[in-house]
Amino acid sequence: MKPNINAERLWSSLMELAKVGATPKGGVRRVTLTPADREGRELFARWCREAGLELRVDAIGNLFARRKGADDAAPPVVMGSHLDTQPNGGRFDGAYGVMAGLEVVRALNDAKVTTRAPLEVASWTNEEGSRFVPTMMGSGVFTGVYKLDEVLRNKDTDGVTVADALKSIGAAGSAKPHKVAAYFEAHIEQGPILEDTKTTIGVVQGALGQRWYDVLITGQDAHAGPTPMELRKDAMLAAAELTLEVNRIATTYPDNARGTVGHLQVKPNSRNVIPGEVRMTVDLRNAKDSTLSAMKKDLLATADHVATKRRVSISLTEVVYFPPSEFAPELVSRVRSAARDLGFSHRDIVSGAAHDAVYMARVAPTAMIFVPCEGGISHNEIENARASDCAAGCNVLLQAVLATAGA
Ligand code: GLV
Ligand code: MN
Ligand code: MN
Repeated sequence: MKPNINAERLWSSLMELAKVGATPKGGVRRVTLTPADREGRELFARWCREAGLELRVDAIGNLFARRKGADDAAPPVVMGSHLDTQPNGGRFDGAYGVMAGLEVVRALNDAKVTTRAPLEVASWTNEEGSRFVPTMMGSGVFTGVYKLDEVLRNKDTDGVTVADALKSIGAAGSAKPHKVAAYFEAHIEQGPILEDTKTTIGVVQGALGQRWYDVLITGQDAHAGPTPMELRKDAMLAAAELTLEVNRIATTYPDNARGTVGHLQVKPNSRNVIPGEVRMTVDLRNAKDSTLSAMKKDLLATADHVATKRRVSISLTEVVYFPPSEFAPELVSRVRSAARDLGFSHRDIVSGAAHDAVYMARVAPTAMIFVPCEGGISHNEIENARASDCAAGCNVLLQAVLATAGA
């Protein structure tokens, strides 16, 4: 029997998983290493056991569900993504790639097909990076980009460490990193291109590079009435100006430049007190490493300028850096061939978002498959995708995995 994915089973698993941490507006709040994350992991683990997979968990909480191969000593072909979401996230970001991997395995079980290389479905810890930096923490540790001991000490804004958060939900195991033959990640596009061009499959060439900063602006708290404007050390005013400058940088540099200030903490956050302290984040992205460096240089110089002008101090700490990545041409062309053979419209595309695939590409040939999402909206509760597109991407994943793992 020729293997084919079961579109209804894929969709109902996605919808069942979306109930874990469901928000009133139809989204998902399954922030990494919270009780909701534990519930999502448990559901995934149960489905894996039911599919006959052997589950292993490593010290940062990455889950690997393994299906035996005919040559069981060979390194596995891995499919995966993440089960954690943004605080106000959607039903598909991450969940789709994990459920698509599981559906590939279920389809192969139905068809009684054993691949030559073993297969694994991976769920990486803390891809989102919103509670704990860095983003792509689990895949970063697995691939040696980050040292386990160092990330275990990182804290969220409440002062909880990654180590304590792992312990609180029992998410850590003892599996050691292992060799991987190839890595495939299916994901919603999270942007508008596929929908706008009425294309079903995005053949992902690589991803933008990123530099993330924690910014601390220190001024002085003072009374909003008696303090003359020219004497103020207003940290919020400096933050506002720096935010506009980030936007200026992102809109004047070439090569798909992006710049975002997504998080602000204002102190003391009282209506009639001039804010003496602001903590904010800056997220810079670019398709070219040299342009990303130029954006960084500009940001640092601009921060100095704003600090002098507004009589505050500004310190920037770089907490994430990775250059633009390119996926493996051989695997990318397998994704393209699978889309073509299955009769799906397809186009080459570059990912604006980070994915675990970015770090996996450093240790194994890697490729990604994108499917459209409604209005290009993601990192939002209204994130939506069509069942037929999810099924198409999963079928492409199945064919690309079969071509790589061997029959
Ligand atoms: C990951 O979600 C990113 O910020 O690109
Ligand atoms: Mn994602
Ligand atoms: Mn995301």
